[in-house]
Amino acid sequence: MGYSLWNNRIVLDKEVIIDREDRGYQFGDGVYEVIKVYDGIVFTLNEHLERFYTSAEKIKLMIPFKKDKLLMLLRELVHKNNLGTGHIYLQITRGSGSRQHHFPHTIKPVLVANVKENPRPLANFENGVKATILEDIRWLRCDIKTLNLLGPVLAKQEAYEKGCYEAILHRNGVVTEGASSNVHGILDGVLYTHQVDNMILNGITRNVLLACAKEIGLPVKEQAFTLEQLTTMTEVIITSTTSEITPVIEIDGHVVGTGKPGEWTRKLQQQFNAKISVLVRS
Ligand code: PDD
Repeated sequence: MGYSLWNNRIVLDKEVIIDREDRGYQFGDGVYEVIKVYDGIVFTLNEHLERFYTSAEKIKLMIPFKKDKLLMLLRELVHKNNLGTGHIYLQITRGSGSRQHHFPHTIKPVLVANVKENPRPLANFENGVKATILEDIRWLRCDIKTLNLLGPVLAKQEAYEKGCYEAILHRNGVVTEGASSNVHGILDGVLYTHQVDNMILNGITRNVLLACAKEIGLPVKEQAFTLEQLTTMTEVIITSTTSEITPVIEIDGHVVGTGKPGEWTRKLQQQFNAKISVLVRS
């Protein structure tokens, strides 16, 4: 039996009770984070918590705990569950109240976090994955890590039905991001990635990737690219907390580069692995 964080208490999983009138359940009215854990050590926890508080603020939800307290509770949760490699799922909803669209006055947020053991998808890192291109039908505040995931869920299902790992989304021919990842392309020794704005989630792994690029001397242009430019990229990468740095080797039947993960991608993956090794050893 595992443990969950329920508001400010660590309790047995079965003790968590979610009200059927919780606005997370009825409206998707809340925000979340997925945070990776390697050998019991939480990766980029500060960065995730920073984004969690920012997302909450953007939807006018005040988290009733200090960041430091939440950080401590999440570390304790990992420890109590004896988690090795896996992830923390953390969400907060506006709380429960009789159904109405505007915020009920006396509402109190409900926070829940749980953990899951999950091995790193090493075969994907090694061999690469296939992707499909779909229209980005989500709303215009993709910078918020909202619980409203119907757009990505539908895109991911379509990708799955086509035998693809990810859907690469576009708006009017401009690549935004993946259904649950950021998308990057490499051409002539430059890494291109969508600029940080309301069209994408500012991925924590994206920022780690950019740090890795700097460390290995790969210039970065934070500049959106078109679908046409995507087909000319010699390497395409998706990044996310759980997918880390995953090479994309085929997009709707179009072979990317040589059809194998490229040299820059390999170097970026090595740099990323070095960061994890340092973390786990220290
Ligand atoms: N997805 N863009 C979108 C739309 C995402 O949902 C995610 C993460 C990312 C990458 O962000 P990060 O590197 O901070 O994980 C980009 C998470 C993992 C998920 O929903 O499972």
